[in-house]
Amino acid sequence: MDSTSPPAATRRDLLTRIGLAAGGAAMYQAMTALGVSAASTYTGPIRLDGDPKGASVLILGAGVAGMVAAMELRKAGYRVQVLEYREKAGGRAWTLRGGDRYTELGGATQEIRFDEGQYFNPGPWRIPYNHQGILDYAHRLNVALEPFIQVNHNAMVHGTRAFGGRPKRYREVMSDYHGGIAELLAKSTRQGKLDGMVTKEDGEILIESLRSFGALDRDLNYTKNVLTSDRRGFEKDPGGGLNARPVPSEPMSLKDVLASRGWAYLASGALYEFQMTMFQPVGGMDMIAQAMARECGDMIQYNRKVVGIQQDERGVTVAFEETGRPGQVQQARADYCLATIPLSILSQLEMNVSGPMAAAIQAVPYAASVKVGLQMKRRFWEQDEHIYAGISYTDLPIRMIQYPAHGYGSRGKGVLLGAYAFGPYAYEFTALPPEERVRRAVEWGAQIHPQYREEFDTGASVGWHRVPWALGCNGMWTDATRAEHYDNLCALDNRILLAGEHASYIPAWQEGAVLSALDAVSRLHRRVVSA
Ligand code: ALA
Repeated sequence: MDSTSPPAATRRDLLTRIGLAAGGAAMYQAMTALGVSAASTYTGPIRLDGDPKGASVLILGAGVAGMVAAMELRKAGYRVQVLEYREKAGGRAWTLRGGDRYTELGGATQEIRFDEGQYFNPGPWRIPYNHQGILDYAHRLNVALEPFIQVNHNAMVHGTRAFGGRPKRYREVMSDYHGGIAELLAKSTRQGKLDGMVTKEDGEILIESLRSFGALDRDLNYTKNVLTSDRRGFEKDPGGGLNARPVPSEPMSLKDVLASRGWAYLASGALYEFQMTMFQPVGGMDMIAQAMARECGDMIQYNRKVVGIQQDERGVTVAFEETGRPGQVQQARADYCLATIPLSILSQLEMNVSGPMAAAIQAVPYAASVKVGLQMKRRFWEQDEHIYAGISYTDLPIRMIQYPAHGYGSRGKGVLLGAYAFGPYAYEFTALPPEERVRRAVEWGAQIHPQYREEFDTGASVGWHRVPWALGCNGMWTDATRAEHYDNLCALDNRILLAGEHASYIPAWQEGAVLSALDAVSRLHRRVVSA
C-alpha cells in the first residue's frame, strides 16, 4: 500500500469489490443477502419473573452485552459479579479523547492529543432508528442523543480513475445517475420496447413516474435546465436583486457516471440499517457504556484478565489475573457464567464446554477493520465547502471521510473520521505503525480535500486486529457456519452461556449485543427458576 500513487487495479480490487461498491455499506448489504439482517426484534424492557433463590452469575466482560445482562440479572434478584479486562467498561463501544493513552498489540502506544471536547469513536459510531434495544437503554439511562448524518447530498464522491480524480458532489452523481437511467427507460417505454412487459396504461404511468424520478423534460430528456439543476445544483445559484438569475449546471453523461462507479455509493443510505434517522450520543459513543457502567457500579471489577473457565456439577470457576500481576492466577466462582468475551479471545482460553459449543467458538473468524481519526485546525469542510456532517466516499484505501455531526459552525478544531476500511485495506493499515496509518490517511484524504495539507493537526488510529481485548472487529458468519454452529454457540451449555454481537443476527452492532444478552439472561432465568 503506497500512499504516493493511486492503487492500481489488482486482484485486491476484486477482493475488495464488495467494499468498493459502497464503502462498507455494501458489506452489510451482502451480509443481509447472506441471511444476516439488521432488523431488531426488541419489543421493550424484559421482565424476569420468579425467584432465582440467591443464584449467582459471573459475567465475563463489561461491554454492552455484559452490562445489559448484569443490570437485568441484578434487578431479577441474582448475585452478579462482572470481570472486565480493561480499566474501564464499554469494550468495543469506545471513544478516544485528548489525554487518553492506548497501547495496541505489538506494543505501539498512542497518546491522544485531541483538544477538549473533540473525540473519535474507533468502534460503534452510529445507531439506526430501528435498533430500539440500545436506544431504549440510552433513553432509560438518560443519555442524550443527537442525529447522526448518514447521507449528505453535498458531500463528495471520489474515484481515482473518474473525472480526472476530481471529486463530485453526491447530489450530482445521484441526480445524473437517476436522470440518465430514467431517460433510457422512459424512452424505451415510449418506443414500445417494453411491450409485453407493461400494459399501455401502466407504460404511460411509468413514463410519468420516470419524469418525476429523473427530472426529465417533456421530450423525456435529462438535460441542462432549471429542473435538473434543482436536483444536482446550479452553475450559479438563484440569488436576490439584480443579476440574481440562476445559471443551470451541465449534467454529466450517463456513460461517464456509469464508468465512474460513483453510483455504487448511493445504495448506502437506502439500506435499512443506514436509513435516516440515525443517532449518536452527545459527546461520544461511549456515553451509553459509561451510563451503563455507572448503573452497574461495584458489580464490575476492572483489570481482570480471564485465563480459564471450568464448570462442574455445582458451578463455574473462572481463573483470572490482575493487570500488573501476570502469572498470579486468582479464582472467582458462581453458580453460572455468562461469557461475553469475543470469540477471537474465548477460542484461545481453556474452557470445558461440550463439543458442539467448543466447535462453534472456534468457527467464527473476526472481520478486519480500521479507523483513523484526524483533528483539523479548522472546520474547512463547513467553512469552505458547506459540508455539514455526513460521509464522503472514495475508492482510495481510506474508503470514506466522515464529518462530525456536532459542533456545527464552531470556529475551533474538528475531528474527521479520516479512514474507515474493512477487508484487505484494513489488514494493510493495521500492519502499519499507528503514525504511518495517520500519515497515509492525511495524504490520501488530501486528494479529496487539499486543505488537509495545511490544516492537519493530530491523529489517532485503531486497527481492530491489534486491539488486545477484541482481536478483530466483529464475528463474521456465513450461511454455512450459521447453519452448523449458531444454535450451538447460543445454547446454554450446562452452566455456561455466551452473549455478544457474535451471538446475534446483527453482527457488528451494539443492538446485537443487547438482544443476545437479553435472550441469554431470559433463557438462563427460565432454567434457574424451573430447577
Ligand atoms: N455497524 C458498524 C458501522 O456502523 C460496523 O459501521
